[in-house]
Amino acid sequence: EVWNPNGKYRVVSTKSMPGTRWINLLIEQDCRLEICTEKKTILSVEDIIALIGDKCDGVIGQLTEDWGETLFAALSKAGGKAFSNMAVGYNNVDVNAANKYGVAVGNTPGVLTETTAELAASLSLAAARRIVEADGFMRAGLYDGWLPHLFVGNLLKGQTVGVIGAGRIGSAYARMMVLCNTVEGFKMNLIYFDLYQSTRLEKFVTAYGQFLKANGEQPVTWKRASSMSEVLQEADVISLHPVLDKTTYHLINKESLATMKKEAILINCSRGPVVDEVALVEHLKQNPMFRVGLDVFEDEPYMKPGLGEMKNAIVVPHIASASKWTREGMATLAALNVLGKIKGYPVWHDPNR
Ligand code: DGY
Repeated sequence: EVWNPNGKYRVVSTKSMPGTRWINLLIEQDCRLEICTEKKTILSVEDIIALIGDKCDGVIGQLTEDWGETLFAALSKAGGKAFSNMAVGYNNVDVNAANKYGVAVGNTPGVLTETTAELAASLSLAAARRIVEADGFMRAGLYDGWLPHLFVGNLLKGQTVGVIGAGRIGSAYARMMVLCNTVEGFKMNLIYFDLYQSTRLEKFVTAYGQFLKANGEQPVTWKRASSMSEVLQEADVISLHPVLDKTTYHLINKESLATMKKEAILINCSRGPVVDEVALVEHLKQNPMFRVGLDVFEDEPYMKPGLGEMKNAIVVPHIASASKWTREGMATLAALNVLGKIKGYPVWHDPNR
């Protein structure tokens, strides 16, 4: 699909993206925009080289693509200066290779914070109250009357929520679980660990504590853990929000799973390889009261054998940022990143900065 065929700058988007604001932004700024309409979901390096062609000023790409040495070399050869991932995560992008070939890299933080945190909160509630399992039971026609034991789950109120990685998304999730809209809300206690010593959450819980006190309410307890294992041992619901790098690969493995409470709930809306999925499947088998809500998987789009059969797992296809507002915002930011560089400004969101 080609927009503004006579535009001076050739910009390629490897996928169609929601909304029209990003398209208008590019064509109003003299770009010829080419949107790949290829039906297959994941494009190979060869597919993308063909899209880049002989002349290309910038590319908007996706987290399913392998943006390494080969693609940045091809983009640079075609005169390209800018690449933006339509994602906040950029573990699919070799930033060093981009630097080497003089291609600026952008990502799309901010607009997806609340939407992603909302999915982590939804999965937490759905896992605690076994909603997906119970829905399957109804649909299968198995409900033959109310029973005291039927789908008994966990009450979240007063339990402890644990957050690993308290950056933008982890902090927003914690805020939702601790606070909600009223003084009462879920009112979960909080324990969190952040490798980079983010103070975001600390500011929030301190202010919230003061608010509760002023209203004569019992304050929630909270602490910044000095290690991840403290969070794993103490929390009832644990949500993972670290970036994926060498230090966080298989952060959750056989050993760390064994330290968690038998009835704990584990949520992952970060990146699949943060969890050793084979160890997780085994743990789910051995501990039927342990539950998980997963948005991401080690080898997307696949699940490790056995995971799909586990009743104590909720699995959704990497949709944490999938609200209309957010996806349109991500597309717009990605376009601004590429446009900025083409027009001689810094990219809007440069993960290097
Ligand atoms: C991201 O942005 O990194 C998410 O995984 C997709 O929105």
